[in-house]
Amino acid sequence: MYNEKVREAFANPKNVGFIEDADGVGKVGNPTCGDIMEISLKIKDNVIVDAKFRTFGCAAAIATSSTATEMVKGMTIDEALKLTNSQVVEKLEGLPPQKIHCSVLAEEAIKEAIKDYQSKNK
Ligand code: FES
Repeated sequence: MYNEKVREAFANPKNVGFIEDADGVGKVGNPTCGDIMEISLKIKDNVIVDAKFRTFGCAAAIATSSTATEMVKGMTIDEALKLTNSQVVEKLEGLPPQKIHCSVLAEEAIKEAIKDYQSKNK
């Protein structure tokens, strides 16, 4: 049901883990399926220099978290706040329609992690 790109991102996910001295952490859950995603970010001078994720979820959730963490590395926090789940899905060249909701977790977890960073650095 998944295309080649999604299968590859799921089989060899990038940035799996947790940044111990993270500047921002975002944890979100998907009410539809109960899956959970956590993203930790290292931020220097408003730029995301590292991103890692831990996902307890389906293949689409893992593929989108891997892709989203790759995408935000090097972005400013303002750019990363604008990243949408559709852009992540586009990067993966599509997801089955019933799996689009899984990609929303990645967008939300990044936003939460940035909010966490901003609340600590006011
Ligand atoms: Fe739960 Fe995909 S089915 S995140």
